[in-house]
Amino acid sequence: MDQKAKLEKLATKVAKKVSPTPAEAREEKQFALDIMKKLGPSLKEAELKLVGSTARDTGLKGDKDIDIFACFPVEMEEEEIVEKTRKALGKIDAKWEMHYAEHPYFQAVMGKYKVEIIPCFRTKPHTKIKSAVDRSPLHMDFLQKNMTKAQGEDVRALKQLLKVHLLYGAESEVRGFSGILCEYLVMNYRSFGGLIETVKDWKPPVRISFVESEKTFDAPLTFIDAVDSNRNVAAVINPTQLSRFISLAGALWEKPSESLFFGKKTKTSNISKALKSRGTTFFFIELKKPEIVEDIILPQLERTKNNIHKHLERGGFSVVSSAYFADQKKAYLFFELASPSVCRVKKTIGPPVTNYKAVKQFVHGKRALRGPWVEEDRVVVEEERGITKAEDLLKKIKSAPIRFGVGSHIQKPLKQSKTHRAIPKLSNEAAQALAEHVFKKEAWF
Ligand code: CTP
Ligand code: MG
Repeated sequence: MDQKAKLEKLATKVAKKVSPTPAEAREEKQFALDIMKKLGPSLKEAELKLVGSTARDTGLKGDKDIDIFACFPVEMEEEEIVEKTRKALGKIDAKWEMHYAEHPYFQAVMGKYKVEIIPCFRTKPHTKIKSAVDRSPLHMDFLQKNMTKAQGEDVRALKQLLKVHLLYGAESEVRGFSGILCEYLVMNYRSFGGLIETVKDWKPPVRISFVESEKTFDAPLTFIDAVDSNRNVAAVINPTQLSRFISLAGALWEKPSESLFFGKKTKTSNISKALKSRGTTFFFIELKKPEIVEDIILPQLERTKNNIHKHLERGGFSVVSSAYFADQKKAYLFFELASPSVCRVKKTIGPPVTNYKAVKQFVHGKRALRGPWVEEDRVVVEEERGITKAEDLLKKIKSAPIRFGVGSHIQKPLKQSKTHRAIPKLSNEAAQALAEHVFKKEAWF
């Protein structure tokens, strides 16, 4: 058997493992159809459409998202279609919350499903879209017509592969491959095997298109949207993520192994050993995760982590690495330092001597340990540092989070957080995220 055939077989095997059971899929679709039936009579001007991976059987087991689009005539106004949808949703017994992405939509948790009802405008392919979400029903039409059932199964295997290696999803923390891009890629190269066979030899920039399109995009990977030639479906993918995919494809081609589709578990004791062997000082700040959607919390955690990192460096500490991670209940900020304390003496470089007024101001009232003296064109001084222990600086940040650029939803939890000098007790999810950071090893190497 050649490599491609081996990969096809492997993809089929993986897809079986990661697909919902036929009963689960049927139940989910029926649940969606029931909602649509209830909405129908009060949304006469809209065409209701089930879209996304649930509708196309390209989702992974355990994904309980139901996306229903209400497609209104393009002549209507946004406010009007949102209001009509809101009214109609009164017919359905659930706690509907309105969300604003680029475009407003409604969301409710109903039993085990997360249901989203998205009002949009009915448009045609390659015409100017009126709102950002109008493409989704067009994607649905296109894929329903053009993607085979076998390709749908390959899409699941591809999503599983990408997910394990943190390459799945277009959100800003991942900057990876979206569901629709996975579907387009498998379709374009006919199968999972065909895709990997090509990707292993990719030399970015790579440009793919089902249709003729003149437009050029400045991105490492471009896949022109089949329903909107003005959009690159792969726009968010950065050079590193694309390189990781190419590298992974090379390894998979050489040795089609099922283990590459499923994560390895690392024991906390091994992570602990690896961390200790680095001889660095590390701090875990453990906080309660606010009960707000991840789309908001994760970017705030990242920003908070980056700002604390910056303030540690400003305080003279040499930060070796920093990371954040979260599980269902808790969030963690992790800082690894070369040393737990810094020297009391801090050299401050002042203004150029050519600016006498500024120099005078700088020198005035300085409690210098040494100087001030002139070095090259500037006045410099050695002063005493206010804080020399990282622990104290972290305490200061915790007591006044706003001043240190801590995200709005993180401020209160940070004030109440605990700081650990060793790995705290972690959930499996958090431990694996920490392992990713500590080992950082690409699984295919
Ligand atoms: N969509 C898009 N581009 C994105 C994200 C979403 O065009 N970056 C559109 C696609 O039409 C997609 C639909 O929105 O099918 C639903 O998005 P989502 O639920 O995020 O993706 P799925 O394709 O359903 O994939 P999965 O849920 O399995 O991750
Ligand atoms: Mg989905």
